[in-house]
Amino acid sequence: MSTPSLLILPGDGIGPEVMAEVRRIIDWYGTKRDLSFDVSEDLVGGAAYDVHGAPLSDDTMAKAQDVDAVLLGAVGGPKYDSLDFSVKPERGLLRLRKEMDLFANLRPAQCFDALADFSSLKTEVVSGLDIMIVRELTSGVYFGEPRGIFEEGNERVGINTQRYTESEIERVARNAFELAMKRDRKLCSMEKANVMESGVLWREVVTRVGADYPEVELSHMYADAGAMQLTRWPKQFDVIVTDNLFGDMLSDLAAMLTGSLGMLPSASLGAPMANGRPKALYEPVHGSAPDIAGQGKANPIACILSFAMALRYSFDQGDEASRLEAAVERVLAAGHRTADLLGEEGRAPLSTSEMGDAILAELD
Ligand code: NAI
Ligand code: MG
Repeated sequence: MSTPSLLILPGDGIGPEVMAEVRRIIDWYGTKRDLSFDVSEDLVGGAAYDVHGAPLSDDTMAKAQDVDAVLLGAVGGPKYDSLDFSVKPERGLLRLRKEMDLFANLRPAQCFDALADFSSLKTEVVSGLDIMIVRELTSGVYFGEPRGIFEEGNERVGINTQRYTESEIERVARNAFELAMKRDRKLCSMEKANVMESGVLWREVVTRVGADYPEVELSHMYADAGAMQLTRWPKQFDVIVTDNLFGDMLSDLAAMLTGSLGMLPSASLGAPMANGRPKALYEPVHGSAPDIAGQGKANPIACILSFAMALRYSFDQGDEASRLEAAVERVLAAGHRTADLLGEEGRAPLSTSEMGDAILAELD
C-alpha cells in the first residue's frame, strides 16, 4: 500500500501552535512505529487571505481533494473581523466542507477519568463515558428552500425549511451504522417524528438501512427526550445519529458533559474515494482562541485527538489511535494540566509544548 497522504492546514491563532505538537507526534509514528505519512502543509483562513487574498486558494482546495485526509487547526481572529463576508477566514473552512461534500460530522464525547470531576455533572454520571454523535452536515433546515424574510400582509415572516431526501438520510445513516459496527453496536436515531414529516421519513429510512446491519441494536428517540437522556444518563448511548439542527445542539451538549473545549476532537466524513477511504477533514472543535494565541498556553490535546481520529477512520490504524488516546489518558492521570484544565487551582500549568513533551514521553 502506498504511503498515506495527509494535508495539514494549521490556520490562525492557536492553530499553528497546537499543530506543531501534532507534527511531533506524526514524526514519532514515523520513527518509532514505522508508520509514515506523506505530509504536506498549506494555508487556510486568515493566513491564506494574507498571502492570496482568499481564505482558501484553488490550489489548496485541489490538494485537499487529492489527499487521504486533511487535518485543520483553527481559523479566524480579530484582525479579520472587518473583512467582507465572502473572504472571511471561516469561508475557507466552509469551502472545504462543501466541495469535499462532508456530510457526516463525528463528534465524540469521551470522559477521561482524570477529568471526571471537572464536569458540571456528577462524577459517576460521566466517568467512563464514551459516546459518538453523528450529525448530518450538508442538508436540513440550514440549507432547505424556501428561506428568507418576506412581507406577508402588514408584517414580515422569517422562513426556513427542514428538507431531507431519502438518499441524504440513507448515506449518513449508513455511516453511523458502520461506526456502530466498529464500536459497541448500539445506534440511537433522534428526530421529531411526532411533529415533523421529515422526521417520519428519517425514521423510516434509518430503519430500512438498519436491515443491512442486523448486529446493530437500533433504537429511536425524539430529539427533545434525547437531550434529557443525555444529561440524565449519557452512558446509555453508544452512537447517536441525527440531523443537522438537532445534531448541532446535541453534539455541543454532549461535548460539554466532559469538560474543556481544549479536549474535543471532530471528524467530518464524505463519500468513499477510489481507494475506499472516505473524504475526510479532522479538526479540533475549538476556534483560534485569540485571547491566548502566541502565549504557549493552548491545550494541544483536541488537535492531537483529532489526529487519533484520522488514524482510526482514514488510515485503518485503530490500534495506533488507541495507543495515542491511552497516552493522553495516562498524561492526564499523572496530573499534567494545561491552564484550561486547571480552573481555579493555583498550581503552575504546562505550556503547549510541555504538554506535547509529556504525551511523547508516554508514547515512548
Ligand atoms: P474559541 O474556541 O477560539 O475560544 C473560546 C474560549 O476557549 C477562549 O477563552 C479560548 O481561550 C478557549 N480555548 C479554545 N481552545 C482552547 C485550547 N485549545 N486550549 C485552551 N483554551 C482554549 O472561540 P471564540 O473565542 O468564540 O472564537 C475565536 C475565533 O475563532 C473567532 O474568529 C471565531 O470565528 C473562530 N472560530 C473558529 C472555529 C474553527 O476554526 N473551526 C470554530 C470556532 C470559532
Ligand atoms: Mg454549534
